[in-house]
Amino acid sequence: MKILVTGGLGYIGSHVVVDLIQDKHEVAIIDNLSNSNVSVLDRIESLTGVKPTFDKIDLKHKNEVKDFFKQHYDIEGIIHFAALKSVSESVSKPIKYYQNNVIGTINLLEFMPKGIPLIFSSSCTVYGNSKIQPITEEISFGIASSPYGHTKQICEQIIEAEYNIQPYFKGISLRYFNPIGAHPGGLIGENPKNIPENILPYLTQVVNGEREILTVFGDDYPTADGSCIRDYIHIMDLSNAHCRAINFLHETKSNKFLEAINIGTGHGVSVFNLITLFEETIGKKVRFKIGERRPGDVVIAYADTKKAKKILNWKSKYTLSDALYSAWNWEINKK
Ligand code: UD1
Repeated sequence: MKILVTGGLGYIGSHVVVDLIQDKHEVAIIDNLSNSNVSVLDRIESLTGVKPTFDKIDLKHKNEVKDFFKQHYDIEGIIHFAALKSVSESVSKPIKYYQNNVIGTINLLEFMPKGIPLIFSSSCTVYGNSKIQPITEEISFGIASSPYGHTKQICEQIIEAEYNIQPYFKGISLRYFNPIGAHPGGLIGENPKNIPENILPYLTQVVNGEREILTVFGDDYPTADGSCIRDYIHIMDLSNAHCRAINFLHETKSNKFLEAINIGTGHGVSVFNLITLFEETIGKKVRFKIGERRPGDVVIAYADTKKAKKILNWKSKYTLSDALYSAWNWEINKK
């Protein structure tokens, strides 16, 4: 298939592009480069031997999206990543987030060829602070803890509204838990332009001497060791889930299909467990201190993974130790 990957030069997008090319798909990338670098294209080429086409397009700009699809009328599937993802920035600049994430998705839905497979990059943040663990897809949306989380809920709902009225519609919203790690080749990985907010890039930068100390956000939560619990999934497993999802939609005989599917390992790991395992895997100490709870953090979130297995025949393969090793390998090799 010829697959459009929006945000294809970003952290998750670039890994998925590599997987798609290795799975013999043709890839077209659009990205506005707001949190990515065009040099990733060369890295994708080094890893796969293929350089995908790239257009610098901002999905907020309706005319750019319209013109793109006029020229690329032969797109057969879309994986939509392009979005802003900083939780804290979304709190201080909500309009920027609604404009970028929601309007961008609306423009894509308006101008994309109708009836082709669409994978939407969603997040477990849609569940809010769920009391039920592991989290199944049947659990209703919770109260979004940030405008960022709210944009994911709104986009899923807009996609559902389109599904309801269109005669042909095939979509999957993949709700990621906590993606970490990097391609084992050390050529692509997470490279935030600003100070990292997510734990792994922050932690590896501390160990590499780029930052002074990691703050553990709270040690008085109602968990065994007092720190929050998350479901950390290797980016290689996550990207493989996208290939499975797009191939599944391509092959399904139904004219209409829409499901939300959790992508996680099904295992909950505390912040302290994560630090200890990193130290054991890499053989280096992590400097950390205990700080205040971070506003908006949920106590526990880990996935029920049965639906991913049933529909996509997908489950995670890599260990957490593999993921931590790859994150460190990327940290010391990134340029
Ligand atoms: C966050 C977002 C989620 C988004 C995901 C990926 C929230 C509530 N959720 O997940 O919607 O999809 O990022 O971008 O913000 N931690 C520290 N010190 C740090 C950083 C993090 O102790 O410096 C802790 C956090 O308290 C949390 C865990 O590490 O318990 C993971 O944090 P993080 O990597 O930021 O991901 P989430 O908050 O789970």
